Amino acid sequence: MTKVTISTLGKMKAAGEKFVCITAYDATFASIISEAGAETILVGDSLGMVLQGHDSTIPVTIDHMSYHTECVCRAANGALVIADMPFMTYSTPDQAMANATRLMQAGAQMVKMEGGTWLSGTISKLVERGIPVCAHLGLTPQSVNTFGGFKVQGRTPKEAKSILADAVEIKDAGASLLVLECIPADLASDISRKLDIPVIGIGAGPGTDAQVLVMHDLLGLSRHTARFVQNFMEGQSTIQGALKAFVDAVKAGKYPTEEHSYR
Ligand code: KIV
Repeated sequence: MTKVTISTLGKMKAAGEKFVCITAYDATFASIISEAGAETILVGDSLGMVLQGHDSTIPVTIDHMSYHTECVCRAANGALVIADMPFMTYSTPDQAMANATRLMQAGAQMVKMEGGTWLSGTISKLVERGIPVCAHLGLTPQSVNTFGGFKVQGRTPKEAKSILADAVEIKDAGASLLVLECIPADLASDISRKLDIPVIGIGAGPGTDAQVLVMHDLLGLSRHTARFVQNFMEGQSTIQGALKAFVDAVKAGKYPTEEHSYR
């Protein structure tokens, strides 16, 4: 595919064209995800759960992320690669700078960090020095112990207001993309309309500019799946077919629907 950049994604948002992100952790899957037409690949710290067998993303280290980012970047073929900063690798701006540098040198074009207002100083520091940032709000899995489980966020007016305020602040700090995970569909649509940066949803309803799913979930390989996950292997005989079906469904506005959304 033609090389995807931040400007490509900005233009797609402006034109009302949905784009797609799928997680990958190795070269083979990066290559077929790119061939399926996904514009972005996320080297997610979800690898702690789907590859390493942990029950959260907390044990993942910067060495793990750096290794898998290198593997993915060798085969991304033009898709924009975002790499997750793992738990406690960005708690100060200097620590974030050192660890984000490792992921950029492993080949990523952008790093992703979970958090809102408290992260804005770190985001502006990274962006000023040439490291694009994707922020992640809502159900941020690295905070699972604070939330008391993998729970939908933003359901009360107070929580919704705080997520919206965080979104505006991280955008003003210079974030190029925002992931919204497991929040009510109306709130996600509202944030996507208000921000001029592309918003990627997961369990956030159909109103975002793009969708992301963990590859193992969309291929029906995970034991426990959330309400928002659809098994795209159904009706397909190959993994390539399932990945393409996901890409096509997002672009056609057929996934996600009301049944995959929280209200
Ligand atoms: O780690 C990951 O795969 C993620 C997605 C769930 C957005 O952060």
